[in-house]
Amino acid sequence: AKILVLHGPNLNLLGVREPGVYGTTTLEGINQALRELAAELSLELEIVQSNSEGALVDAIQGAMGTCQGILINPAAYTHTSVAIRDAIASTALPAVEVHLSNVHAREPFRSHSFIAPVAVGQICGFGPDSYLLGLRALAKRLGK
Ligand code: DQA
Repeated sequence: AKILVLHGPNLNLLGVREPGVYGTTTLEGINQALRELAAELSLELEIVQSNSEGALVDAIQGAMGTCQGILINPAAYTHTSVAIRDAIASTALPAVEVHLSNVHAREPFRSHSFIAPVAVGQICGFGPDSYLLGLRALAKRLGK
């Protein structure tokens, strides 16, 4: 099975960006760990990072008919984007929402997610491991 991995805005700066909140692992480091786990789980990954909402919507639409699931860290768009939520709902693919930080332990505006209601579930607070746990959850969901 093939999984679309989506990283939202500012995640290209991981490693340099607010290391006290997001840690020192780079995005490439997270992607490398995901690729290793995917190989173990016999999953194929397509990995996309974008700072733009429209590009993320396009990537989600592109998963229809080509991917069997979506692993997404919508980053700041988590808290604002009806468009990303509707795109996920439109694909009818299982999606798992992940966050590095515990969004529920931070500013109140971060505890609301427009994405969570259309996701299978949300994993947050485990740093880069949130992604790995999310990929495992998706694999299990897909019967892998
Ligand atoms: C984040 C949490 C969001 O609130 C924030 O806007 C991000 C990163 C996380 O992974 O912890 O950019 O999604």
